[in-house]
Amino acid sequence: MDQDEGQPANTGRRRLLGAVALGTVIGASTGLAGGAALTAPGAPPARVTCDGSRRFAGKVVMITGATSGIGRAAAEAFAAEGARVAFCGRREELGAEVEHAIRRDGGDALYVRADVRNPAEIDDFVARAIEAYGGLDIALNNAGISFSKPLHETEPDEWDDLQDTNVRGVFLAMRAQIPRMLARGGQIIVTSSVNIVGARPGLGAYNASKRALAGLIQTAALEYADRGIRVNGICPGATDTEMIRRQAGFMDAPDAAWRTAVGLWARGNVHGLQRVAAPHEIAAAILAMASPEMTYLNGSMFFVDGGMTASL
Ligand SMILES: NC(=O)c1ccc[n+]([C@@H]2O[C@H](COP(=O)([O-])OP(=O)(O)OC[C@H]3O[C@@H](n4cnc5c(N)ncnc54)[C@H](OP(=O)(O)O)[C@@H]3O)[C@@H](O)[C@H]2O)c1
Repeated sequence: MDQDEGQPANTGRRRLLGAVALGTVIGASTGLAGGAALTAPGAPPARVTCDGSRRFAGKVVMITGATSGIGRAAAEAFAAEGARVAFCGRREELGAEVEHAIRRDGGDALYVRADVRNPAEIDDFVARAIEAYGGLDIALNNAGISFSKPLHETEPDEWDDLQDTNVRGVFLAMRAQIPRMLARGGQIIVTSSVNIVGARPGLGAYNASKRALAGLIQTAALEYADRGIRVNGICPGATDTEMIRRQAGFMDAPDAAWRTAVGLWARGNVHGLQRVAAPHEIAAAILAMASPEMTYLNGSMFFVDGGMTASL
């Protein structure tokens, strides 16, 4: 599996300790799909129930970082509800796979390879999405990376790369998207994290980036409300994606070992649902935020963490 550029290599399999570090890492929730670890406190639903809703029919959605994880789940969910979805990420094979999966299921999607650290690539992504779909209604600025390291061992380049991706990348995306929304309004949702209210050792760079996003989100929410653009943040708890699996050193481990480790970790660290989220559960919350009836949501940081922050 690809390593994100700029992320340190895994420091070796940490086994269950890795699962503990996992909490250290992202700081959220629980258990997983399938396997014994999932059965006790409650597994996530296998998929979002499809009731035929098409809340986003006719809408154009743009997502950064949808080649995997939360972004991919959101792309698939928006498309399933009628949106035309343009998305980016650097891994072209996965981008093509996601686009194909959405189209195979009857949805409309466009993958554009773009690195959020590169202003020209982001501008090109936004331009191509608008050229293909004729406008922009909802932007999910989701691309992000993480690593876990004590501050004094963090190289300046590692720090810069994380901030360039997680913070500057969101700024660049908003800078390209907002002019396209000024005429007819729109919505921007940014993926932050529960780490904005609870720090974890080893996550100095990540925590700083996700808290910076709160400032960006709130400022934009105030600057553009009178132009019909609402801006909000979603703060997921620990979610079963490549990000936390990689960080825990389990990318090459069997799925069963990962499920057991993350399930055990979650039982001790997620004081509510006692399991980590499945990506589609976070996607469901994103769609709820973006849905037509949420007209008064602006400048909010929406926590979807299984109860984890309730225990702080
Ligand atoms: N998983 C969690 O527990 C958790 C909790 C709270 C918040 N979050 C946040 O959720 C977001 C999504 O992460 P995830 O958990 O779904 O992990 P993931 O599966 O690793 O997804 C990260 C996505 O970001 C993209 N990305 C990373 N760097 C990029 C770059 N320079 N340019 C373009 N795309 C880039 C990746 O695509 P490519 O690699 O193809 O470029 C990938 O699609 C992140 O902002 C993360 O901080 C995650």
